[in-house]
Amino acid sequence: MTSAAIAIASDHAGFPLKSDLAEFLRGQGFEVLDLGTDGDASVDYPDFAIEMARTLKDGKAARGVLVCGTGLGISMAANRYPWVRAALCHDVTTARLCREHNDANVIALGGRLLGVEVARDCLQTFLTTEFGGDRHARRVGKMTTPPEL
Ligand code: RB5
Repeated sequence: MTSAAIAIASDHAGFPLKSDLAEFLRGQGFEVLDLGTDGDASVDYPDFAIEMARTLKDGKAARGVLVCGTGLGISMAANRYPWVRAALCHDVTTARLCREHNDANVIALGGRLLGVEVARDCLQTFLTTEFGGDRHARRVGKMTTPPEL
């Protein structure tokens, strides 16, 4: 099963930005799967990265948005799963290139680092930029199935 829905998840540090971005997406007509967290009580970011990976694997969403304080931990945790390509983005350039070159299926954002307008611009760019294919497809393939070491 594949879906055009967008999954979104955060820890407590990312919760305010996640809430804003979920509303931003709904306002654009997207179906949003909110995987939590639901407030500012302290939680562990890997738990939400794991839920994102599960949701993508199950085909309940094709794209995802992850937010923690920096975007670092939650993207690292999600990228432990080979079908996840989570890109930590700080600006529209990284958001564009993570799609064009890396075929990122998840954008990771730092809720304690980015203003809402920059984060919305990143997300908009992430959702509207196509993968470049060609040589980039070969490179992405090597990430998806790395050799045994
Ligand atoms: C939580 O304090 C913080 O460590 C987390 O949100 C994230 O920034 C980790 O990478």
